[in-house]
Amino acid sequence: MKPAEQRIATSVLVIGTGGSGLRAAIQLAERGTDVLVVGKRPSTDAHTTLAAGGINAALGTMDPEDSWQQHAADTLKESYFLADPHTVRIVAEGAARGIADLERWGMPFAREADGRISQRYFGAHTFRRTAFAGDYTGLEIQRTLVNRARQLNVRIIDTMYVTRILTRDGVVFGAYGFDTEDGTRYVIHADAVILAAGGHTRIWRRTSSRRDENTGDSFRLALTAGARIRDPELVQFHPSGLIEPENAAGTLVSEAARGEGGILRNRLGERFMERYDPLRMELSTRDRVALAAYTEIKEGRGTPHGGVWLDVSHLPRETIMQRLPRVYQTLLELQMLDITTTPIEIAPTAHYSMGGVWVRSEDHGTGIEGLYAIGEASSGLHGANRLGGNSLIELLVYGRIVGDTAADYSAALGAQQRSAAAVAEARDEVDQLLAADGPENVRSLQRAVRDTMTEHAGVVRDEHGLQAGLARLDDIETTAKNVGVHPDLAGFQDLAHAFDLRSSLVAARATVEAAIERRETRGCHNRSDFPNLDESLRVNMVWSGPGNVVREPVAETPVEIAALVREVSSAGKLVE
Ligand code: FUM
Repeated sequence: MKPAEQRIATSVLVIGTGGSGLRAAIQLAERGTDVLVVGKRPSTDAHTTLAAGGINAALGTMDPEDSWQQHAADTLKESYFLADPHTVRIVAEGAARGIADLERWGMPFAREADGRISQRYFGAHTFRRTAFAGDYTGLEIQRTLVNRARQLNVRIIDTMYVTRILTRDGVVFGAYGFDTEDGTRYVIHADAVILAAGGHTRIWRRTSSRRDENTGDSFRLALTAGARIRDPELVQFHPSGLIEPENAAGTLVSEAARGEGGILRNRLGERFMERYDPLRMELSTRDRVALAAYTEIKEGRGTPHGGVWLDVSHLPRETIMQRLPRVYQTLLELQMLDITTTPIEIAPTAHYSMGGVWVRSEDHGTGIEGLYAIGEASSGLHGANRLGGNSLIELLVYGRIVGDTAADYSAALGAQQRSAAAVAEARDEVDQLLAADGPENVRSLQRAVRDTMTEHAGVVRDEHGLQAGLARLDDIETTAKNVGVHPDLAGFQDLAHAFDLRSSLVAARATVEAAIERRETRGCHNRSDFPNLDESLRVNMVWSGPGNVVREPVAETPVEIAALVREVSSAGKLVE
């Protein structure tokens, strides 16, 4: 019989089985460092598989004038200068190497007839810079990384829910968790921990994350370990999420649809982007297109189900089949709708956490010794508006860097102090939740969080709504003390959901508190009571627990990059 609690050890523990976690693990394994990857979702079906349209690198295969400097300039410009310039440089400069790694491991990129990697336009890029595999790019990247990790015999346990990162005197020594199938507890001793457990966009009602993904786990794990959260309020609403069916609300329709020539119209048939960004139209930035769609709907020009139309039916059928196969399949499966003949009804969907755990740009250390964060769990690259395609390249570039850093850290570690008290605290937390037999239901409280965030901290926000949201979160937190947790023969998912709820509450509070402090409109963050960008708020909001938000200055843009930044009029940004 299995003991109720097992102890295991590794040199580096990676929490999260998505692209960033796997990329770091591959680097560690290639360096000969023992690594264990754990996560709550099957590695073959991690959230990365949903990333659709592409991955950015200034390869210049289609537009030879492109350069990493231009990629950096576009990224900084579209971050509304909240991205960290050093982070941006590292990603833009390292991008070609990231793509080369994938190619070496067998990634089936779309290619031109002469063998060059194809690159397409994504919104607000100066050049065609987005490499892709149909609109299954994330899925193919994840497959490629899983295969490489298997070749290297990387240990993966993807039925493990991590409840705590273990620290002693501010130094990491492992993590605590349980198996979601049989409930076995684990104390995992590790020299270093890499947090790659995603973002927090599942705390909105309409989201491109599936159930139980991106529930804010990284926020809670980092915070309880003593780390901080940067810019949690900066959440990207992607313009094109499905409205129906209700249980799949927010499912992504890739930006590739607009990149390939898709057209947006309102109920009156007007091509409404003419009013918001006449130069770039549908290829405008995500924040602008999302706000434009939101405004059309709010002002009564929306479709019957409260959306706008995205139409690709004028494109050649072959283009749709080759370059938008997932959109085609998704619409057939979910709505029995043929996009080659019929427009799609879409509305903004919570898509990406541009803020996340505070990290140093050079190595993604969190300031807690031995703890690193990467991918959507981290922050620094995207600022107030992420360029589509930048997240996939970020995870490759920083996956490699953080893998190297953690390998070095582990190799240099002389001795490690552990703490029985920290383990006992983690154990007690699980014990208490397992003993919880209150009348409140975790699922309905998760729904309450999502309703609150949608109503009070959505595409457009204001002080009154945010304060009301905060009060509502207080109520939900109080109610959550009386939940019942009942694992059954099917497994310990109910316990996992209870921890998800705790994480979501942390992430929601961080988001709302930072949103209150950002009294301006910048990128994705639209404050109807502060409709202009405020130069003095070119700062990051750093949250370190309830009521604690401080401003941190952002470094200046290097002159060489600033010279490449194109001015784009912001007229019509907030037209509400
Ligand atoms: O629309 C998309 O295909 C999403 C890409 C991304 O978020 O990078």
